[in-house]
Amino acid sequence: MEAKNFDIFNVISDIRKNGQAVISVEGINITLRKGVFIPDYKMFQLINTAIRFIEKNKTILTIGDVGTGSGVIAVLIAKRFPNKKIFAYETSAKAIELARYNTSKNNIKNVRFFNNKRGSWSIPPYKKIDFIISNPPYLGNLEYASKNIFKKYPDLKYQPKMAIRSYDKYGILPFVKILNGAIRHQTKYILFRSNADFVDKTVQTLQKIPHKIKIKKIRDGIIFAELK
Ligand SMILES: C[S@@+](CC[C@H](N)C(=O)[O-])C[C@H]1O[C@@H](n2cnc3c(N)ncnc32)[C@H](O)[C@@H]1O
Repeated sequence: MEAKNFDIFNVISDIRKNGQAVISVEGINITLRKGVFIPDYKMFQLINTAIRFIEKNKTILTIGDVGTGSGVIAVLIAKRFPNKKIFAYETSAKAIELARYNTSKNNIKNVRFFNNKRGSWSIPPYKKIDFIISNPPYLGNLEYASKNIFKKYPDLKYQPKMAIRSYDKYGILPFVKILNGAIRHQTKYILFRSNADFVDKTVQTLQKIPHKIKIKKIRDGIIFAELK
């Protein structure tokens, strides 16, 4: 799955000029707007990995997208798997509004949105979520304070702070909270997009959670967890 001619700086420039940009991902249009996280090309790698995994694992019926932002993950997965139920969680009202818009524009009926409170990473009604896909805020206080980060990843200047900052030291707390929530939701698998510079530290921290979990880095910045 690839976004045609996707260049995050062109997208940023369109959003700054027009307040929004539309990207086309294999014929599916996703609108992106000011104040909502702009996905980068690595997101499409994550979605590809998720799609291949769902195709192979037929027992996956319910899928959580935690921190849905523009809804890019939820929309692309829902379109590909119209018979699965997708639950998308988000704290930002602007993001939920945009994600709803993207689902309705694409005539998608199998996504439900949940408005999370800050600090809470998922909510009940649907107790069982077989597979969670998440790209949570990943920028810890240390990295955020080092101005180098904006030289290394210049697009970060244009992302909403609440979408990228995790407000802990290393940018790991959201991953820990999501994984603990997943244990409560009887989740079997999780695919995380993580901070590529802290991926090993994130894996080591998650491995300390007292539950039977197999965790591995499957490619740069992507972590896979299997829960028993
Ligand atoms: C890095 S962005 C990813 C957005 C989208 N999944 C993507 O990849 O384009 C992280 C998102 O998590 C949201 N978020 C932050 N705290 C949250 C929470 N407690 N529960 C759900 N979403 C949260 C942010 O508002 C932001 O939209």
